[in-house]
Amino acid sequence: MDRSLKVALVTGGARGIGAAIAARLARESWRVVVADVDARGGVSSGGRFAICDVSDESAVNALIASVTTQEGRLDALVCNAGVNERKPIGELSLAQWLRVIGTNLTSTFLLVRAGEQLLRASRGAVVTVASTRAHMSEAHTEAYAASKGGLVALTHALSISLSPEVRVNCISPGWIFTKGDAPRPGDHAFHPAGRVGTPEDIAALTAFLVSPDGSFITGSEFIVDGGVTRKMIYPE
Ligand SMILES: NC(=O)c1ccc[n+]([C@@H]2O[C@H](COP(=O)([O-])OP(=O)(O)OC[C@H]3O[C@@H](n4cnc5c(N)ncnc54)[C@H](O)[C@@H]3O)[C@@H](O)[C@H]2O)c1
Repeated sequence: MDRSLKVALVTGGARGIGAAIAARLARESWRVVVADVDARGGVSSGGRFAICDVSDESAVNALIASVTTQEGRLDALVCNAGVNERKPIGELSLAQWLRVIGTNLTSTFLLVRAGEQLLRASRGAVVTVASTRAHMSEAHTEAYAASKGGLVALTHALSISLSPEVRVNCISPGWIFTKGDAPRPGDHAFHPAGRVGTPEDIAALTAFLVSPDGSFITGSEFIVDGGVTRKMIYPE
């Protein structure tokens, strides 16, 4: 194993945005560790795959311990794993609320706490994946919006606490097509950029932020939504 290669840990990398981030970093010669609850994932990037529920404290501690022993370093941590639960608040159970907060927000606290020494030693970088839903809402998305808003705030708090060794930034995607029905022509046209986003759009910015080109950037949130949150909408 080439221990001179930089190591990136990507959570939720079995599919979707996380898989694109893992593949992009692998193409840029990073040694990639993908952590996910979905055991089918992780092979496409060619890196190591680790089963891990990122909301589980002991699982996260074991994951970082395995990175310490197997890779021996950690240069980039990409906190991408996330879940949604869309339900009217009257029907949302506490267990469902806690699952969303645990997966989308508490996970980053657990991962950074466990990985702090490795990240400081490598003068590494953290990228969190929040959402434009940290800033705007549809009905019945309280748990998701709260988790992503918390993640934006956790990102800037960490950027101060971990400075100057570790940079911490957040990407807030808008609509990124990963699954389900393909976007219609009108969906693309609605976006000022002329199209719905792709996982590669998020992967490209992640790769930039963890690279030396991003070395003056920390504590920032980058909205990658094709311009939708800047679009004024009036009733018909
Ligand atoms: N796709 C979008 O339009 C969009 C928009 C804004 C934000 N996001 C955010 O981007 C991230 C990735 O989204 P996606 O669209 O690729 O989602 P996805 O559902 O396709 O992939 C999420 C991955 O996270 C994994 N995961 C879920 N819970 C986990 C846990 N507890 N521990 C470890 N892994 C877990 C899943 O197995 C899956 O592989 C999420 O945080 C999501 O909230 C997505």
